[in-house]
Amino acid sequence: MNYSIAIDGPAGAGKSTIAKEIAKKMNYIYVDTGAMYRAMAVYFNRHGIHADSEKEIDCAVKDVDITIEYIDGEQQVFLNGENVTALLRTEEAGKMASKTSKYASVRTKLVELQRKLAAISNVVMDGRDIGTTVLPDAFCKIYLTASVEARTTRRYNELKQKSVPCNFNEIKSDIEKRDYEDMNREISPLRQAEDAILLDTSDMDIEEVVNTMIKMIQSKKLEVDK
Ligand code: DC
Repeated sequence: MNYSIAIDGPAGAGKSTIAKEIAKKMNYIYVDTGAMYRAMAVYFNRHGIHADSEKEIDCAVKDVDITIEYIDGEQQVFLNGENVTALLRTEEAGKMASKTSKYASVRTKLVELQRKLAAISNVVMDGRDIGTTVLPDAFCKIYLTASVEARTTRRYNELKQKSVPCNFNEIKSDIEKRDYEDMNREISPLRQAEDAILLDTSDMDIEEVVNTMIKMIQSKKLEVDK
């Protein structure tokens, strides 16, 4: 049997940074599911597919093959055989992923891939629907959140540090829009699973969050190993 840890929460809550760190400490495989939705989005953007046409999306999904490999412990995403990992963290890919992740054809394909990965390794998987839909039997589920203000401030500081011109209110409004889309879609909306532990990280730094989560995971593991 493999052990799965499910981490869900809104954009900018720090899921990927934290999940990566936890996977390293626990010697689990880190699976970033958002990257898969973004890889699909790269395909849609490249082929001029309209995000509001389910028919076009359904048709395009048939031509998309997403695969995952691990190189030096880092997840690499391949789109029809091409490594697109470096193209995924752009605003353009994020926006398209947010708009197209509501479609059944997109989700069905990616959920199948995610379950296959969890069937062959111990995983820390992060996303929006991991605890509710993808891995309902995960032994530990954590819903990681932070206030809109805190998430905006983190993103703003991150961009400032990279000298990327940015505007606090625009970032805030993008985050609110993303939250609305993720939480209000029909299929697998973002929500806390009933058996997930809620962790609000608004006033915590990364080290505090990681240490708190490791304690939660260890105590859950003792329960399942009993
Ligand atoms: O976590 P992220 O920003 O990389 O995710 C990009 C988009 O993909 C996000 O707006 C919602 C979608 N997504 C999803 O619907 N389900 C997941 N398990 C992961 C991401």
